[in-house]
Amino acid sequence: MDDGALRPTSLAEYVGQRRLKEKLGVFLEAARARREALDHVLLYGPPGLGKTTLAHIIAAELGVGLRVTSGPAIEKPGDLAAILTNALEEGDVLFIDEIHRLGRVAEEHLYPAMEDYKIDIVLGQGPAARTIRLDLPRFTLVGATTRPGLITGPMRSRFGIIEHLEYYADEELAEGVARDARLLGVALEPGAALEIGRRARGTMRIAKRLLRRVRDFAEVAGEDGVGLDRARAALDELGVDAAGLDRRDRAILRAVVERFAGGPVGSDTLATSVGEDRATLEEVHEPFLIQRGLLQRTPRGRVATARAYAHLGLPTPGTLRFDEEVPR
Ligand SMILES: Nc1ncnc2c1ncn2[C@@H]1O[C@H](COP(=O)(O)OP(=O)(O)OP(=O)(O)O)[C@@H](O)[C@H]1O
Ligand SMILES: [Mg+2]
Repeated sequence: MDDGALRPTSLAEYVGQRRLKEKLGVFLEAARARREALDHVLLYGPPGLGKTTLAHIIAAELGVGLRVTSGPAIEKPGDLAAILTNALEEGDVLFIDEIHRLGRVAEEHLYPAMEDYKIDIVLGQGPAARTIRLDLPRFTLVGATTRPGLITGPMRSRFGIIEHLEYYADEELAEGVARDARLLGVALEPGAALEIGRRARGTMRIAKRLLRRVRDFAEVAGEDGVGLDRARAALDELGVDAAGLDRRDRAILRAVVERFAGGPVGSDTLATSVGEDRATLEEVHEPFLIQRGLLQRTPRGRVATARAYAHLGLPTPGTLRFDEEVPR
């Protein structure tokens, strides 16, 4: 079964994100009652928190069709026109993933489509070119991005609903994992589910991936279900530590501490030094390390916190000076 097969299909099945769900529930109900298309929705937040899933749920809850595309796929205005004029029916949801990567010209053509449900199409070239304006069905654009800072002001202002997805609490991740285990027919002890949740960096996709790997270990060991000990051993084996940091996270922290004396270090330099691309560093690893209080983002670069030293089992430089170097 792939990722999509276990995807929740209704708001009720979607775990956590309570504030967002409550609000969205109201907007969906209002749109349904008025028999209108839902206002355009912009969802942003780190990878794997459930933006794509939510886009599918929005369409399902509205009982309308869904068209899926992504920013990089829409380079030219013609690409956009093709999507908007074909196969989009009244009330449908158009999901544009990675909307921050939309081509600039295409983006400008999207504005009248979002505002007035019209699109300008240029026919011909040079002096003979003329523009025709086509009417579009009323649709709902759902845009998703991991980089809200890259969305232009004019684009952002055309969304009526802008929502941030938050990292999940351990218990919520455990709930999501328990649900998948049920669907997969795996007997997962609650303690094991919580252990997976604790180590999943607040991210539903990671929790669900860890569940599958833990289940592999249990199966190969010939065990029927998954208990806490098995979960712990498997997670250790997978290189996920008790705080949920994976090998890459630890390598990044270690680099800041050991190669750059705790920082500050610029993200380009840091990325190069650990052989990671800058976008992954900034979008995946840093937000988590910052959220866990292990790293700080300062104007001069990234700085390791005292907690980072403790996590790596190293003495904090400040403490060192105070406790050991200064005799009392
Ligand atoms: N609230 C949730 N409840 C249950 N399952 C969830 C929830 N959120 C996400 N998932 C599951 O986690 C996985 C990742 O979710 P999804 O693909 O929607 O994330 P995303 O935010 O779109 O990530 P990306 O930014 O990488 O595209 C999917 O398998 C999805 O079914
Ligand atoms: Mg997605």
